[in-house]
Amino acid sequence: MALTAKTHLLTCDHWEKDQILSLLARAEALEVMPAAELPRCLHHKTLVNLFYEPSTRTRASFELAAKQLGAHVINIAAASSSVKKGETLWDTLETIQAMGVHGVVLRHSDHDEMQASLGALAPSTFFLNGGSGCVAHPTQALLDMLTIQQQHPDFSALTVAIVGDIAHSRVAHSDIALLRTLGVGECRLIAPQGLLPSKEPEGVSCYTELDAGLQDVDVVMLLRLQKERMVEAAIPDEAAYAAAYGLTLDRLAKAKPHAMVMHPGPMNRGVEIDNAVVNCPQSVINKQVRNGVAVRMALLEYLSQQT
Ligand code: CP
Repeated sequence: MALTAKTHLLTCDHWEKDQILSLLARAEALEVMPAAELPRCLHHKTLVNLFYEPSTRTRASFELAAKQLGAHVINIAAASSSVKKGETLWDTLETIQAMGVHGVVLRHSDHDEMQASLGALAPSTFFLNGGSGCVAHPTQALLDMLTIQQQHPDFSALTVAIVGDIAHSRVAHSDIALLRTLGVGECRLIAPQGLLPSKEPEGVSCYTELDAGLQDVDVVMLLRLQKERMVEAAIPDEAAYAAAYGLTLDRLAKAKPHAMVMHPGPMNRGVEIDNAVVNCPQSVINKQVRNGVAVRMALLEYLSQQT
């Protein structure tokens, strides 16, 4: 991951393969460890979850992960904080740090502002990006890799398709980075032209036809339309989008017979994913959520060892 300080995890773009594999192995071990045997590496430490955008999975799983490692957790939603009175992100981070907290998880709509504000935190205060604009969601990508690896240990043998609003997706950006580092066989991006990245990322192929893109893939990762990050004029007609790109069981049949179906959530059923696909045996969506707790424990433990 790109580190502004060794303890500040902003993106996973430059994370090395060995580091990823070691984190995934540790997450897998922590996932099956009895609660009483989990390391208490955050005992007497405090983590702040600072969220400028809504979240269910990321916020709650960071809280659960940190508490399982012995931490106190404070949740701050920007909408009900002094941010509403005009306080900047920099000043908010400085204020939180002055209280003596040990770590911060931050979700923010502006990646550049997040990066610029990290200077407010001392290297001794660890930092994790909980999702920044359209740019990065490193912990989601790590949990996605763990979910794939549990079923397919050899990434080089895999064809992975990412389907949906890739242009506005921080998840897609981070997933592509980790898939490439782990040596994925093939990565396909499938979306209408307007929702593909303006510049094709290195090492991927782009498709505008769902059926063609899904042919013989091992993994299908779905994304919702992220209207909150679209300009008004660019929002596609939802019914037309669902007709052309919504994943149904019929369309899933183009993929390999046991292809995994993934979705980072939140889902919009009936738009990018049909109800029957959510509940089909190939769906690992709830497994992704469970893995999110383990991956975040592994990351928190790693960071606690750096400070
Ligand atoms: N996948 C994800 O980031 O979900 P939340 O927005 O609910 O945290």
